[in-house]
Amino acid sequence: MLDNAYNASGSPNIALVKYWGRRDDALNLPNNSSLSMTLGDGLTTTTSVLFSSKLKEDAIYINEKKLDLSSATNEKSGFMLKAINYMRSAAKMDSHLLVVSKNSFPSDAGLASSASGAATLVYALNGALELNRPTKELSIIARQISGSACRSLLGGIVKWNKGSMGDGSDSFAEQIVSEHYWPELIDIIAMVSESKKKVSSSEGHKATVRTSPLYKARPSIAEASVSRVIDAVKAKDINSLSEAVMRDSNNMHATMLDSWPPIMYLNDASKAIIETVHEINASHGENIAGYTFDAGPNGHIITLRKYENEIRERLSKLSGVSNIMVSSSGPGPSRISECLITDDLIAENSKV
Ligand code: DP6
Repeated sequence: MLDNAYNASGSPNIALVKYWGRRDDALNLPNNSSLSMTLGDGLTTTTSVLFSSKLKEDAIYINEKKLDLSSATNEKSGFMLKAINYMRSAAKMDSHLLVVSKNSFPSDAGLASSASGAATLVYALNGALELNRPTKELSIIARQISGSACRSLLGGIVKWNKGSMGDGSDSFAEQIVSEHYWPELIDIIAMVSESKKKVSSSEGHKATVRTSPLYKARPSIAEASVSRVIDAVKAKDINSLSEAVMRDSNNMHATMLDSWPPIMYLNDASKAIIETVHEINASHGENIAGYTFDAGPNGHIITLRKYENEIRERLSKLSGVSNIMVSSSGPGPSRISECLITDDLIAENSKV
């Protein structure tokens, strides 16, 4: 029995070339490779994991809410339990576990908290169970909880190779450059209010593949964008990076709109952000910033630190932009000393 908690911290990532549409929904195998920037600057998930024979059952708390592990209705919880059980049996551990996880960023920030949560959990389980699995393997496990999570196992600019094997063994994340390579590169996050919850990304992946004729062109377009963005990052070329990032986001959202019924994640404020970035770029005579949007209306503006104030000022004037956050690229998950598991929580979940 391991009786000490293992604590880890990890961060979300923002896709510069999007993952949208899967060739296998059970294993989260994508139709195209994707590329992301792991965030940092205090945007973190902190996770503590404890295996103990004192515990009466598995218990998982996310942002102070205890998950109902008995209901099989939530696909994400099911995927998470599968990953936990896979790692637990690989370590020949028979104790129950207690997980406490918390995000430092607001849950409506459109910051893929499931990616950061799943990556940090898999990293912490690997530590708590002393499995010593390589990062590539951890990314494969995290991918099966939430596809984009595999990219948060590494810092800096990360590529998720789509792979071609049926078992997903070649669909993993790898680092292209570390967070130290281009420290001036930042993500300005423009939070936009959303009136009503849209289609979940998990449902969206399926609906677009099933119903959008336009989607057929997407995998090869995205694959070419991945190469273009990698070249731009390596050359530290903000002009070409920005254009490729904007085009890829627009291309993904076009396939969403082409789905039937149409899926629309962007709202009027998102469109105002798009127009503003094009105006800023036109005034500079080159692309100094590129917007990208995930499955939600919040804008992520990829730019350089020297343009932060100018862009912030323009965004803050837009109606519908409620908050602005900034992050440079950060590292992958790491072990930390802060423990979220209290004696009270252990007592509450222990056998009598
Ligand atoms: C638009 O990783 O949330 O953010 O595999 O169903 O968990 P699941 O999907 P998820 O999809 C993310 C889609 C995206 C683009 C991206 O992050 O690449």
